[in-house]
Amino acid sequence: MAITRAVSRAIGRCELTHLERKPIDAQRATEQHEQYEACLRGLGCEVQSLPEEPELADSVFVEDAAVVLDEVAVVTRPGAESRRAETASVARALEPYRELVRIEAPGTLDGGDVLQSGRTLYVGRTARTNDAGIQQLAKLVEPRGYKVVPVEVRGCLHLKTAVTQVGENMLLVNPQMVETGAFGGAEFVEVDESEPTAGNALLIDGTVVYPAAYEKTLRRLEQQGIKVAAVDVSELLKAEAGVTCCSLVFEKH
Ligand code: GLY
Repeated sequence: MAITRAVSRAIGRCELTHLERKPIDAQRATEQHEQYEACLRGLGCEVQSLPEEPELADSVFVEDAAVVLDEVAVVTRPGAESRRAETASVARALEPYRELVRIEAPGTLDGGDVLQSGRTLYVGRTARTNDAGIQQLAKLVEPRGYKVVPVEVRGCLHLKTAVTQVGENMLLVNPQMVETGAFGGAEFVEVDESEPTAGNALLIDGTVVYPAAYEKTLRRLEQQGIKVAAVDVSELLKAEAGVTCCSLVFEKH
């Protein structure tokens, strides 16, 4: 199952932290997003696309609104105030599938800061995710058998800008942005140095959905024997986003 949301016509006013603002063609972003959704369908996902939120510029990035685990969905409290109104509709969409629990003030947590590896949740300590948010997450999920490991992140928006899963025990990483030692016994593929923001990949059932723009890193992934489904998300990348940000993927049960 993949929950997505149509691109907001206000995407040009999105939050930006480390990127310079460039004009975003909302129509082109919408077309690219539809191709992304088609790619998810091609990989076997049932895509539930939520309607556009014309006033919520970043609302296409549904990943930040929730952390969906097998047992429970944690509705977040996004670190950017402009994004807090995004969670209500995502929570409604998740309600049929999971018990819902919530991060409360003063905690903040963006789903983009949570990297799941089995029963471990690595959580980036960033401008979007604070210690109170991490502590609340731990309190909510540790009784359900998860371990929460805070991770320091440098020079990027979210933990998953720096590192994502591309295989059972393999992570794609920019080692300038995060210490690889934080991730136990994982193997790593490093992004090409000329593509520092290339660390975000979406692993679905053995295939990695990946931005076509990061050609050199894409080649490295393929050289490692990783199956890649390339998508053109160039307009969405201008909004300081990646391929994980645009969906919440989980098993329906
Ligand atoms: N534009 C993505 C974010 O800042 O949340």
